[in-house]
Amino acid sequence: MLTPKPAHMLPLIAGMRPLLERTLGGLIRFDIDVPPGTAPVMVDPARLESAILNLAINARDAMPQGGVLTLRADNIAIRRQGEPGCPAELAPGDYVAISLTDTGIGMEEATLARAFEPFFTTKGVGGGSGPGLSMVYGMVAQSGGGVTIASKVGKGTSVTIFIPRASEARALTQEPPSETIPGDGAVVLLVDDDLLVRAGAAAVLKMLGYQVIAATSGLEALKVLQERMPVDVMITDYAMPGMSGVALIQETRRLAPSLPVLLITGYTDRPEGIERCAVLHKPFKPQALAEQIATLLRVS
Ligand SMILES: Nc1ncnc2c1ncn2[C@@H]1O[C@H](COP(=O)(O)OP(=O)(O)OP(=O)(O)O)[C@@H](O)[C@H]1O
Ligand SMILES: [Mg+2]
Repeated sequence: MLTPKPAHMLPLIAGMRPLLERTLGGLIRFDIDVPPGTAPVMVDPARLESAILNLAINARDAMPQGGVLTLRADNIAIRRQGEPGCPAELAPGDYVAISLTDTGIGMEEATLARAFEPFFTTKGVGGGSGPGLSMVYGMVAQSGGGVTIASKVGKGTSVTIFIPRASEARALTQEPPSETIPGDGAVVLLVDDDLLVRAGAAAVLKMLGYQVIAATSGLEALKVLQERMPVDVMITDYAMPGMSGVALIQETRRLAPSLPVLLITGYTDRPEGIERCAVLHKPFKPQALAEQIATLLRVS
């Protein structure tokens, strides 16, 4: 069964990275080129991971002497069916193209023509069993996507899977990535009592390259500030049990007067009692959150 949900490529790839690097071994360099603006895709994440792993194993097998494997993601808009470079069967719409390109042995025309057949393999006894690419194709097709493949003998192979984009608002409820994205991002103190909101916002922030310190209450957030942890910006929910977001901001002003603050609220009015504070109304898109934080950091 497929359980499609919005998935962000950056955390997904970051989470897979250790496994992929182990699989590829020491001779193959693994380059990742997934821009932060890559749209979330609507897919069963476990199946997408297994497809990527399958393609990486094929790439490894094609580079016994080593080489480079590059994983790229691009937002692609298909305007009309049959556009060059896109799978012919795909309806017009917004997709993310995830490609794995190796510098391996490549494929002869005859191999290329049969590569997606269920039990086709050139790997002989003890090698592959053959369902790899056909399974990748099946998973992608069931997700409403498609696959293209290009290969040159002696040069390498590039397999690209196209997956439909998910609407950004739904992606906000995704679980946070298991691993922090490396990057020199600013530190965000994120305060929300709601696990899902916190997880969703943390996922978006990490995807954008921020480091996130999560706090489940105003008191916990104040403790972080009292311990003088380096924080560049604070994001807090308004309605929280115990200490409200407004009370937290007032306390924060005493501890860290110049810390930029963003208040997130489900109410339409701007809350009383806070000055010099940006306000973001729920529900919001990840893009809006990103823009607010970038602005706060710029003017502070
Ligand atoms: N990146 C690649 N470079 C060169 N040839 C490839 C590449 N990927 C696939 N092939 C060719 O396509 C064939 C089919 O690939 P597929 O992944 O379906 O099966 P397999 O790798 O042989 O076995 P397995 O079921 O274990 O994946 C391979 O045997 C190989 O000849
Ligand atoms: Mg294979």
